[in-house]
Amino acid sequence: MYLQHFGLSEAPFALTPNTSFFLAMTPHVEALQVLQTALQTGEGFIKVTGEVGTGKTLLLRKLLNELPPPLRCAYLPNPCLSPSELRWALASELGLKYSANIDQQQLTSLIQQQLLALAAHGHAVVLILDEAQALPTDSLETLRLFTNLETETRKLLQVVLFGQPELDQRLASAELRQLRQRITFSYRLRPLDERETQTYLNHRLAVAGFKGAPMFGAAEARLLQRASRGIPRLLNILAHKALMLAFGAGDSRPSRSQLRAAIKDTEDATQGQWPLTWAGWLACGALLTSLVLWFGGVGQWGAGL
Ligand SMILES: Nc1ncnc2c1ncn2[C@@H]1O[C@H](COP(=O)(O)OP(=O)(O)OP(=O)(O)O)[C@@H](O)[C@H]1O
Ligand SMILES: [Mg+2]
Repeated sequence: MYLQHFGLSEAPFALTPNTSFFLAMTPHVEALQVLQTALQTGEGFIKVTGEVGTGKTLLLRKLLNELPPPLRCAYLPNPCLSPSELRWALASELGLKYSANIDQQQLTSLIQQQLLALAAHGHAVVLILDEAQALPTDSLETLRLFTNLETETRKLLQVVLFGQPELDQRLASAELRQLRQRITFSYRLRPLDERETQTYLNHRLAVAGFKGAPMFGAAEARLLQRASRGIPRLLNILAHKALMLAFGAGDSRPSRSQLRAAIKDTEDATQGQWPLTWAGWLACGALLTSLVLWFGGVGQWGAGL
């Protein structure tokens, strides 16, 4: 690969949400602040939504790393779980030992006892779910019932939902209105603007060990921001492809045409608005000029008659 060519110690644009590459940009900082405030106030449900690839899982991992010690965390990365699977998963996250023969009611009461025991030792539990848009409706309802448990001052179980915008659409339905009312804190991650895009790209390169002057200027960032619609995952894909092309050509940084080639090669990228290439525009200009000259000539010829 191109690591040696650019003097990098690791891949700068890998798709894994690796917290060592985290850049504290406004949307992500605001989301973390909302999460921390909501967790401190002890509210039942907290929600973070964002388009595919905007950084929800990365944010979640950042939150997991930064949870203050009195909060105990249970993390479910894949919430395609029925209500009973959800209870089993929660029980095992809470470190419960139980016989496989117990029924759902017994399991529920074991979970409640464990939450109460943890609360007695000063621990509130935070259940964090990624991809929450995939959680079945009856499982969401199961979660809501667990968050009914509370002390005088706070919930015994707080739930943080990370999900794509489809989660908001699901929560808008009448059958989930009770849960919707419990979500007192929420945040919607927005895509990156041009300036953030430039900082983001150069930041990832710097973390990966790049030592030269910033590789992406404002014009390159504008091009990539438009093509990616400011979605970090798409930016990673485009930047990676552009670096591959620059490496292949022996260049020290991707040129504009290499960036355009990367965009063209990426199905989900927004392609340029202009249907014509520069050569096309030149040909059009030449055609227009000759038409003007020709009509001018015809006009003079007509006047001479
Ligand atoms: N603030 C940031 N700093 C550094 N990298 C980021 C940041 N935000 C997003 N990324 C990167 O963008 C890519 C996509 O992020 P992530 O996987 O967290 O998105 P997602 O919102 O969870 O997507 P999906 O909806 O598909 O699950 C990852 O490589 C992640 O590291
Ligand atoms: Mg994710």
